[in-house]
Formats: sequence, structure tokens, C-alpha cells
Amino acid sequence: MTKLTPISFSETDLDAIATHVGRVAVFVDGEGKMDLAARRVNRLTKGAVERLLESERWGKLSDGDVVSMAYPAGMLADAVDIVRLERNAKGVPARKAGASLAKTRGGKADMLVICATLRKAEDVVYGLAMRDYAFEDHKTAESTRSGAVLVMSGKPDELEAACKPLLAVAEGAHMCRDLTNEPANILTTTNYAERLKEMEALGLKVEVLDEEALAKLGMRTLLSVGQGSVSPSYVVVMRWEGGKKGEAPLALVGKGVVFDTGGISLKPGAGMGDMTMDMGGSAVVAGVMRTLALRGAKANVVGLVGIVENMPSGNASRPGDVVVSMKGDTIENLNTDAEGRLVLCDVMWYAQQEYKPAAMIDLATLTGAIITSLGHENAGVFSNNTSFCNDFLKAAEAEGEGAWRMPLGQAYDDLLKSRIADMKNIGGPAAGSITAAQFLQRFVKEDCPWIHLDIAGVASVKTATALAPVGATGWGVASLNRLIADNYEAE
Ligand code: BES
Ligand code: MN
Ligand code: ZN
Repeated sequence: MTKLTPISFSETDLDAIATHVGRVAVFVDGEGKMDLAARRVNRLTKGAVERLLESERWGKLSDGDVVSMAYPAGMLADAVDIVRLERNAKGVPARKAGASLAKTRGGKADMLVICATLRKAEDVVYGLAMRDYAFEDHKTAESTRSGAVLVMSGKPDELEAACKPLLAVAEGAHMCRDLTNEPANILTTTNYAERLKEMEALGLKVEVLDEEALAKLGMRTLLSVGQGSVSPSYVVVMRWEGGKKGEAPLALVGKGVVFDTGGISLKPGAGMGDMTMDMGGSAVVAGVMRTLALRGAKANVVGLVGIVENMPSGNASRPGDVVVSMKGDTIENLNTDAEGRLVLCDVMWYAQQEYKPAAMIDLATLTGAIITSLGHENAGVFSNNTSFCNDFLKAAEAEGEGAWRMPLGQAYDDLLKSRIADMKNIGGPAAGSITAAQFLQRFVKEDCPWIHLDIAGVASVKTATALAPVGATGWGVASLNRLIADNYEAE
């Protein structure tokens, strides 16, 4: 797994500024007020920081931006990074500052970050840890990632304690990204199940249900998606029991299609390689479970992922096939490329039957249509419960992860009517993301608060985002962790 950048903490020592080898980062606020460390850099460099602050370039920066000065005279460092940030900045700008530092560090330098009196230095550290990610497992060249970050602060112990749960989130997001970036010949269904099983070492209870077990449970629709692949299908259940004994858990359900060719309804060739990320929903679930374990969350959460591969073959599902779901409803499979919902409906039903959750959230790279609607800025949020939905939207907003509520309704549900079965798995050309959500809602019990997150547009992107480089983003790990921290942890 891609490791977090090593980060350590110590008491502010201004004399280290002159002697540190690598990069040195200091902070200046919006009014051009230097903190202690910036003043020391300014003195050592005979006024270079002051000249920067008077420049036109500085005036154009916003909070969280960085200007680097290479090979500063009077210092042993290769560069000084001057960060523009309000002393009491928190959340989004402080994280942006950290991300900017990760970018100037370039995954290599030994960096000294002197937070001195910054109020929310933990957000800077979190932003740095999140952005400092590269997926290099398949590069034969020596890794370019090296070096470490030393954070200095007036209260290093307090800062380190405040960073601990945030770094657990970053580690969960890194895991989510690794899984989502991994190609399907490496992350086979079996390999995926094994990787999740390894999380038992963190104190999670992990159960791997194989095809025999799934057949016994009656998960025929899930199995019908995987039947064209030589790789076996699995459901993996990860339980974190950090809450009150016997208290109903929150259930997280994820789509884990390790590769989606479309099946017999084959996708066009162009861009098909992107479908290695079609297990992105399940990777968020895995990332959240890892985070909860690492920070010892005081909540009961069960994560369930359906792991399958959607391939065309002599044994694959045909368009027109009718399958019986675990719930008992019959489904006419009119497009084998609408496979995610067939995986999720059985896992969601199982989650409710087996764990009687207090609430349920499913995540899936479910529809191309959500990209048409919301682009790569927001995930589609669908819910049967406005207060639950608002709790999630609030958490996502606080984490800076785009999320936008979409409608549900009877008229959309009507589009799923089948001539020969209880429903079909596609609704036609209109409102594709909504009809997909309506399909899922048919497998949600009336009294179960439920949110469906369509993350097809945000799970993996072609341009870097605030806290992630190009590729898998880890979208959702932070928001779900916050939702759990704010609403499900006793104290
Ligand atoms: N995995 C895809 C959705 C997807 C598309 C994810 C682009 C990420 C990027 C999903 O299984 C799919 O193929 N959906 C179809 C549904 C249609 C056949 C009703 C789609 O969106 O075209
Ligand atoms: Mn598909
Ligand atoms: Zn898919």
C-alpha cells in the first residue's frame, strides 16, 4: 500500500531555519504580516521575504497559495516556501496550504514546516498528507518518493494528537486510491478479497462469502453479473464494533466491479480501460473501514462490498435474461452493462436482513449519466430521508467534497416496468442516474434511512483536485468518516 509521507513533530526551533537541509516552509498572513519563522527567514536572506511581500505577484495570491524561493542566501536549504495563510485559518484554506506544500515538495525533499502559532496547523498537515500521493507500484524505476516532513509548533504534542485522526483519514483515502488505481489483472476479485481480509490485523472482523455461500443466500442477481468471468464473485463483510454493544450499525455498501466490459452489451473500445475504477464505491467503503479502525472510532459500522467482474463469454448473462433477486423480485436484464445495480440490490438486501442497520449508504460508480448531470465536481446524492441526507451533505461540505442532491419519485420508478418480470434493469434514455437510484430503492425497506451516492464522476479524474493528484481521488472517505464522527459516535 502507498505509505503516508513520514511526518514528525517538534518544538519550534528558529535556529533550525538556517541549518535545515531540504526545504523550509513558513507562513505569512493576508496583510503581509510575517510570523516569527518568516521574520527569521527574512533576516537570514537580507529582506528577500519583504521584497516578495511588496511584489505584484504576492498581491495576486489567495489563502493557501505558496511562493518558492530557490537556494536562498544565508540558509542551507534548497528552497524556502512562503505560504500565504491567515493565522486563524481553518478547514479549506489551511488544507489547501498543506496541499500546496505537498506539490512544492514533489514527494522528495526533506521539508521543515514551521507552524509556530498557526491555529489550525492540523489542517495544513492533513492537506499535505492527502495531496502527497503517487501510485507507483507499476513503475520499474526507483520510487521518486523519499524524504520526510518535520512540523514545528509551539505545542507539538497537542498538534500531533490533533493530527492523529486526520492522518487516519488520509491513510484510508490512500488505500481507497490504491485499490481504485489498481488494474484489473492485478486486483482480481480474489486478490481484492484477500486484501480486505488483511484488514483483520487492524481489529476489523472480516468475512469473505464465496460463490457457494452466495448461492445459498440466494444472491442470484449478483452472481449473474459475475458468471461470465473466470474470476469468482465474492461479498466481503467488514465489521467495526467500536460503539455500544448491541446498537444497530450504520451499513456502508459498495459496488466492487473490478472490471466492467459491459458484458454481452459490450462497451465501445475507446476509454474502456477506465473501467478498472468500477470498484471505486467498494474502495471508499474499504477506506472508511480502515480509517475507523486506525482511529478507534466509537461507532458500530458494517461495510459490505460486492466483488465481481463483468465479462462477455459463453457463460455470460444475455440481454433478456430474467433473474430472481435475493429479495425475491424478478428482474429482466435488458442491458448487461447496467450491472452495478444488479450487484448492489442483493448486497443491500443482505445488509438489511442480516444486520438490521440504523441506516444504510451505498456507493457506486453507477452511471455515466451522473457525469452528464454533475461533471466531475459533485457526486449524485439520492435519499429517502431528508434529515439523514442533510447530515451527509453537511459533512461533505465541511470536507470540501462535492455532493449534490438529486430527486427521486414515482414517475421515475414507473420507467422500470417490465412486460414479463417485476422490473427491468434499465429505464430508457431519460434520467439514467435517477432510474438507477429508483431501481436500488426497490431494495430498501420502508423504514430504513438510505442514501445512494453515484460517484462515477468523482471517484477518478483526469485533472488534479484540491487534495488529490490525477487518478483515483478517495472522494467520500473523509465525508463518511465525518458523518460517522458527528452522528454515530457516543460521548
Ligand atoms: N460502470 C458504469 C458507469 C460508469 C461510466 C462509471 C463512466 C464510470 C465512468 C456502469 O456500469 C454502466 O455501464 N452504466 C451504464 C448504464 C446504462 C446501460 C443504463 C451507463 O451509464 O451507460
Ligand atoms: Mn456497466
Ligand atoms: Zn459498471
